[in-house]
Amino acid sequence: MINIGMPSQSNTPSHDVADAPIGVFDSGIGGLTVVEALRRVLPLERILYIGDTARVPYGGKSAETVIRYSREISEHLIGEGAKLIVVACNTASALAVSILAPMIDVPLIGVLEPGASAAVKATKNKRIGVIGTKATIGSFAYEKAIRTLDSEITVSSAACPLLVPLIEEGLYEDDVTSVILRRYLEPMLANGIDTLVLGCTHYPLLKRTIQLICGPEVTLVDSAENCALAVRELLASQTHHRDIPRSIHLDTPRLDIVLTDSSEGFLRVAEKSLDLTIDSLSFRQIGK
Ligand code: DGL
Repeated sequence: MINIGMPSQSNTPSHDVADAPIGVFDSGIGGLTVVEALRRVLPLERILYIGDTARVPYGGKSAETVIRYSREISEHLIGEGAKLIVVACNTASALAVSILAPMIDVPLIGVLEPGASAAVKATKNKRIGVIGTKATIGSFAYEKAIRTLDSEITVSSAACPLLVPLIEEGLYEDDVTSVILRRYLEPMLANGIDTLVLGCTHYPLLKRTIQLICGPEVTLVDSAENCALAVRELLASQTHHRDIPRSIHLDTPRLDIVLTDSSEGFLRVAEKSLDLTIDSLSFRQIGK
């Protein structure tokens, strides 16, 4: 059941940081894969998600633009009382997190470092593949993060600009998607990778098809799951997590969604593909 309108608790001042929502954002539907992981790992937390559907995709935009969009959305989430912000977008994580983190008052967690560290733990032959948007791959952020953890690892990467539009269209298990994926993945499979980082939060929606193409011997690293674990660790270290004994309000934790434009694919992905229950969906202009 979805209410179209304002998120019902968004302007209520939180008297307890633990009860404040986790703010999450992405350019569009991709960050919902992170929300799904957060729901599993932190089932008691309220989540306020912003999907910047008016300005999707971020993956082909300049660093300046992605930083500006990320700053505007982060400020909006802080204004709504978020106790922590999850940048559920690899493009924004690669280009904006290190710049924005020192400028804002709440912790900012991206998906990139958790994904890189999970890949380093997973590889046995020290050959890792990374797929992502043009901006993420062009930033070399994954290579840097992986090679900082282990300089002996070889990283093969590929920008996959056609995948986000296919996913936004819901073509997860379509012949066209398989042909395009093969074109992107074959060179890195030929390099003998045993681990592949899905370096875009949209890509977990293609996991089945990607695993079929790569074969069972390649481990897929999903940054969504690893990001959720990093968020749990951070909240626990700050005792800002919501747990039953501390919390006064034992309501079902809300998932409030704000989009910057209407999006046909959004509800389909949230409800059918990821089985998320949305408590409110509203539309709001953020930035110019
Ligand atoms: N989901 C975003 C990411 O993880 C990319 C989608 C886009 O290009 O906007 O990079």
